[in-house]
Amino acid sequence: MGRKAILDYLGNDWTRTMSLISSSLDSDIDLLNHINSYIMEHGGKQLRPMLSLLMAKACGEGRLTDDSIRYAAATELLHNATLLHDDVADGSKTRRGAPTVASFLGASNSVLVGDYWLVKAVDLVMGADRAVMEVLGLFAGTLSLLASGEMLQLQKAASGDTTEDDYLRIIRSKTGTLFETACESAAISVEASDEARQVAGIYARYLGYAFQIKDDILDYTGGDIGKPAGVDIRERKITLPLLGAMSRVDAKRQEEVREMVRGVSDHPENAGLLIGFVMDNDGISYAQDRLKTYSHQAIQALSVLPASPAVDYLVELANFTADRDR
Ligand code: IPE
Ligand code: IPE
Ligand code: MG
Ligand code: MG
Repeated sequence: MGRKAILDYLGNDWTRTMSLISSSLDSDIDLLNHINSYIMEHGGKQLRPMLSLLMAKACGEGRLTDDSIRYAAATELLHNATLLHDDVADGSKTRRGAPTVASFLGASNSVLVGDYWLVKAVDLVMGADRAVMEVLGLFAGTLSLLASGEMLQLQKAASGDTTEDDYLRIIRSKTGTLFETACESAAISVEASDEARQVAGIYARYLGYAFQIKDDILDYTGGDIGKPAGVDIRERKITLPLLGAMSRVDAKRQEEVREMVRGVSDHPENAGLLIGFVMDNDGISYAQDRLKTYSHQAIQALSVLPASPAVDYLVELANFTADRDR
């Protein structure tokens, strides 16, 4: 099983979700349509709507509603909006193997297009039949956490004192919270029980941790992720592979490593040395172990839901997240 098997299983629900994304972005401004098409043509993994639709089916005894489709589409719109903003914040030139909108249209225009996608996500939620205010609250909470998580990451890049607790808080805020909203809104869309909704949130939280840890491993090891490797350390982001490697050395060496991170802008050669430090001190396997634990916890949370193909695919999605190379 893989991504394709999941999309085959979702079938017409997937097609409807993709059509809804595309129709909700439609504008009478050619330039905007052109940019929107460019973003959709370089579409990424579309993990969040997959997650959302599978969770709706898992909580809804195999059925989902029009609201499920809306909420799934909204998660992907919101995700892309945050990436359009993030590429400005990070000065990124490539994403998904292609030039970023910021790189060819300028930073302020990337932010504007991001705003457009963001508002279209809100529009979709506002047009739903049930629990509109509640789901809007989830999306608002996600955006607020996402922005504050990014600010904490920035603050920590300057101070260079990131702990593992800080790291987990940052990744839950900037990545996990949207997974949680995708899964909780999906449960709401099929009027699932409080218990099922809680399970949806727990699964998503652990999956979010596993997903971002994998992203941070791939930043060290490379892979087919469509963006250059070693970016995090150049941005002074202390992620789990480095924290893991630091946990294997004494306090004095740890402080030296942190000093190297703080000085990476003035001494670009530090980046290569820090990557070597991570490799030499098993930082990757440390992060890999954590990732495995979180993906198992995600899978375990699902055991409360009645057995179904959708649950099997959610298990598969957790495995795919742990093993992906893009
Ligand atoms: C990228 O997310 C941003 C992170 C949260 C790490 P994805 O890796 O899901 O991005 P796409 O949509 O597949 O490109
Ligand atoms: C982006 O985070 C995730 C957001 C939630 C905006 P990163 O900056 O770590 O991810 P990439 O490497 O650009 O995808
Ligand atoms: Mg970023
Ligand atoms: Mg980035």
